[in-house]
Amino acid sequence: MKILTTLSVLLVMLFLLVQCSNPAPTPSEPTVKKLSPKEEQAYLEKGKAITAAAFAAMSGKLSAAMESGGVAGAVEYCKLAAYPLLDSLSKVHGATIHRTSTKLRNSKNTAQGWEVEALEAFEISKTLVREPKPRVRLLEDGSVAYAAPIKLMPLCTKCHGTVGTDIAAADYETIKKLYPQDAATGYQPDELRGMWAIQFKP
Ligand code: HEC
Repeated sequence: MKILTTLSVLLVMLFLLVQCSNPAPTPSEPTVKKLSPKEEQAYLEKGKAITAAAFAAMSGKLSAAMESGGVAGAVEYCKLAAYPLLDSLSKVHGATIHRTSTKLRNSKNTAQGWEVEALEAFEISKTLVREPKPRVRLLEDGSVAYAAPIKLMPLCTKCHGTVGTDIAAADYETIKKLYPQDAATGYQPDELRGMWAIQFKP
């Protein structure tokens, strides 16, 4: 009997010893591919150049439309011209380019996929009074996502500021007719208005 007990104690010890010297293999870390600092810099520059070109084209046309047709005319212009312009830039750069926001005028601009998180990050940095900065990220399908904040400028308040003061009531009627669900008002200059979202195809 004594021998049996001693034997089982030994067996348990042996078992423990084997267990200890043989730790469970740690699950291998999923290999998250990242952009090299050089690639990151290159995409940041590419994104910056594209958004600058898009902004220049859009605001140039917008100012001209406002001068000739007032705010109401320019709103019509925005509705018709924003997409063809971004589409043609998208073709040139082999990327999809669009604008999004948490308070939308056109629901077609709703954030999708990776954009949701990027937009949230900008909103959070806004509340932390940290200047939101453009960022790039490698997506699972090998494409590269570029996100940049869009700040409101004084010119923008005519269509995105406070209704009744910045936006004339009659102009807002035109906006509401075209965009019954509009939520993109109440902004002040320098406020975060939304985000540029560019996806470079692999
Ligand atoms: C003449 C009026 C007008 C002015 C001025 C204007 N916008 Fe807009 N904005 C619009 C309209 C109309 C849309 C919806 C376009 C569409 O159908 O996608 C829009 C859409 C947007 C969107 C896309 C998200 C959304 O809400 O659908 C952003 C971002 C935006 N504007 C930022 C700006 C900024 C920044 C400025 C100033 C540089 C500006 N806008 C000036 C009328 C204007």
